[in-house]
Amino acid sequence: MSLSQSEQKTLVANTAVDTLIEKGLIFSGMKIGLGTGSTAMPAVKRLAEHIASGKLKDIKAVVTSFQTQNACQDYGIPVYSMNDRAIGGQLDLAIDGADEVDPDCNCIKGGGAAHVREKIVEYNAKIFVVIADSSKAVQTIGTKFPVPVEIIGDARVPVMNALSALGATAVLREGVRKAGPVITDNGNQILDCTWKEPINVPEMEAKINSIVGVVETGLFTQNKPIVFISKEDGSVEIRNLK
Ligand code: A5P
Repeated sequence: MSLSQSEQKTLVANTAVDTLIEKGLIFSGMKIGLGTGSTAMPAVKRLAEHIASGKLKDIKAVVTSFQTQNACQDYGIPVYSMNDRAIGGQLDLAIDGADEVDPDCNCIKGGGAAHVREKIVEYNAKIFVVIADSSKAVQTIGTKFPVPVEIIGDARVPVMNALSALGATAVLREGVRKAGPVITDNGNQILDCTWKEPINVPEMEAKINSIVGVVETGLFTQNKPIVFISKEDGSVEIRNLK
């Protein structure tokens, strides 16, 4: 068996949702955070299938982007804000894709420019789950896939200077079929950063977030996730699940 990347995404999403239901970590009445991207979408679909079959009831979802909001609306999954009384600022579990995952379960997220709302949801979830195909598992973060940094547009040049002082090469993310920069769901811009040498990931997350004008970095180091990684041969590796 040799699965394509797209088949691996569906496999890992379905395996993760089904395993988490079996383990009692996804359950009726729960508050769940739903991520963004081409791996998170099949997970939202699988959740919707379990809701439609009656296996899961009274699920309250908090979404991380317009993409996920639209998906939940299409599937009929009720969407709440982190601020709603029914959510109270804390989730039972959040599930999402990632751009890179290292052996310590540090991640880069935000390839789809959704990492600010993803981090709000995933750092405020009791359990964070990452689902990824085999191409996302790496030894070192920061030298290959760019780390997105969401910024206030008026602070672009001083933030670029500060990122350069941290050793990063920062490039403004440009729109596709839209002139000028990508504008995030929050109305901000994105600088994509790479380093020539491996970085200390938790330290870099904190340093970038201390720059005035930065909204949030796509380095995720603080709420260590359970990680599901699918392989070309159809198997799924699970890290950090007790
Ligand atoms: C969205 O901004 C991201 O954080 C995604 O979770 C990440 O980019 C992974 O996306 P794919 O699952 O589409 O590769």
